[in-house]
Amino acid sequence: MVVSNRLPQIEAPADEQEARVAPVGGLVVGLAVALTAPLDRREALWVGWSGRAADGTPANFARRSRVRGLDLAAFDLSQSEVRLFYNGFSNRTLWPLLHSFPAKMVVRHDYYRGYMRANRRFAEILMPMLQENDLVWVHDHHLMPLGRELRRLGWTGEMAWFLHTPVPPADVFGLLPWASELLESILDYDLVGVHTRRYAHNLFDSLSTEIPGMVIGDTFRHKGRSLTIRSHPIGTDYEGLRRMAEKIDRRAAERLVGVISEGHKFVLGVDRLDYTKGIIQRLRTFEYLLDRYPALRGNVSLIQISAPSRTRVPEYVEERQQVDQLVGRVNGKFAEADWTPIRYLYRSYPQEELVAFYRRADVCLVTPLRDGMNLVAKEFVAAQQATDPGVVVLSRFCGAADSMRDAILVNPYDIEATAAATYRALRLSRRERLRRWRSLNEDVRTRTAEAWSESFLQDLEGVSHDIRARAHTRD
Ligand code: UDP
Ligand code: G6P
Repeated sequence: MVVSNRLPQIEAPADEQEARVAPVGGLVVGLAVALTAPLDRREALWVGWSGRAADGTPANFARRSRVRGLDLAAFDLSQSEVRLFYNGFSNRTLWPLLHSFPAKMVVRHDYYRGYMRANRRFAEILMPMLQENDLVWVHDHHLMPLGRELRRLGWTGEMAWFLHTPVPPADVFGLLPWASELLESILDYDLVGVHTRRYAHNLFDSLSTEIPGMVIGDTFRHKGRSLTIRSHPIGTDYEGLRRMAEKIDRRAAERLVGVISEGHKFVLGVDRLDYTKGIIQRLRTFEYLLDRYPALRGNVSLIQISAPSRTRVPEYVEERQQVDQLVGRVNGKFAEADWTPIRYLYRSYPQEELVAFYRRADVCLVTPLRDGMNLVAKEFVAAQQATDPGVVVLSRFCGAADSMRDAILVNPYDIEATAAATYRALRLSRRERLRRWRSLNEDVRTRTAEAWSESFLQDLEGVSHDIRARAHTRD
C-alpha cells in the first residue's frame, strides 16, 4: 500500500495551466515508474488525494481506478483541509523549513492542528483497506505522522516512510515549534528513507537533539522503539527516457522547441515554479552572462520552462510575479528584432515532449538553492545523444550532486561564478563533453527509479524481520 498526498492523476487542478498534463514533481514521476515496473512478486495500490476540495464534508472512502497501469485509490479533502493541511502546514511551514528557508516558514497553530487532523483522516480511510500481510509505504512531508495514526488504529504490520525533500541540520529543524512531537511520531515506522547520507545524518542529529534516545549504527532507539534510517537515492526511468528521446524526430522537436539555427546555442531550465529552485538567481546569472560576454548576444538563448505549482500559496504567487518581472526586464534590456534572450514558458510538458527540449539543449542549468534529489538533472543526461551530448551545470545543493560529480558543479547563490561555469559549459570541447557525459550516464543508467524502490522495499523487509525477531525473543 503506497500512500502519498499527490497522485499521478489530478481530478481538479488548482489552475488552468496545471490541468494541461499529468501532475509534475519528482515524487509522482519517480513512483509511477517504480510501480509500473514489474515489482518482483508485489502488487501495489497507490492511495492519495484526488486534488479536489469537496464542497461539504468529503466521503471517508477512496475511489478506485486504473490509470496507465497503476492501481489508484483517491479521496477528496475538505476545503479547510486544503487550506490548513496542504497549502498551510505542508507547503508554508514544513516545505520552507526542510529546504532551509526558515525565514519563509509560517508558524500557525491552526495549520498544525489541521495537519494532524488530516493525517488522522488519511489513517481512517486507509485502515479498512489494509490486509494482514500488506506493507505500508508512506511518502513525503505531508504525511510524517501518518504511521503513528495508523498504529493508534491498530495497524501492526510493516511500515516505512520516505522523505523526498532535504533534511536540514538539527538547529534549523529545531526552529519548528512542533519538532519534537513530529520527530517522535516517525519512530512508529520501521524504516525511514531519504535521498542522501547527509540527510540521514541530519535526521539522526535532529532526533538526538529533540528526543532522549540513542543512535546505534543506523538505528535510533527510544522507549523500546527502534527506527532505522537509510539513504536510498531515487533515479529515473532511464530506458524509457532514452527510447522517448530517440523516437522524437527533427520535425516534432522543431514544432516543440522551435527552429534553432546553425551555430546558435540554447541553455535550458526546467522546474516547478518554486522559490527553492533558484529561478530568480538563474535569470540573473543569464543576465550577467550576457553583460560579461557580449559576443554571446544574439547567439545564445535561455529556454526556461516553469511548471505552475501550488498556485494558491502566497509565496508562490510572489515568486511568479518576480520571475515575470525579471524575464521582462532582461528581455527588454537585450532583445533584438530577431533574437529573444529568454523564452519563458509558464506551463508544463509531458515527459514525451520534455525529452525534445533535453535532447536539443547544449547546456542544462539545474541550479536549485536546495533540492532533495532533482530528477531533471538525471533525465537530461538520459536523453542525450551519445555522440554529441550536452552539459549539465548542477547546484551543489541538490541531492543529485552526490553522485553526479562529473557535472559542472556550482553554488547558485554565486551569480558571477555560475555565469563563468555556464560560459565554460558552452565552450567545452566535444571530447570533454563526452568524457563527462559517459561518467554521468553510468550513474543515471544504473541508479534507476526501479532499482530505488526495489532496494528500499528489500531493506524494509529485512529491517521488519529483525524487529519482529527481537520482539519475539523478548516475549
Ligand atoms: N516535469 C514534467 N513536466 C514539466 C516539468 C517537470 O513532467 O513541464 C517533471 C520532470 O520531468 C521531473 C519532475 O517533474 O520528473 C520534477 O522532479 P524534480 O525532482 O526535478 O523536482 P520536484 O518538482 O520534485 O521538486
Ligand atoms: C515535490 C514534493 C512532492 C510533491 C511535488 C509537487 O516533489 O516532494 O511531495 O508532490 O513536489 O508538488 P505538489 O504540491 O503539486 O504535490
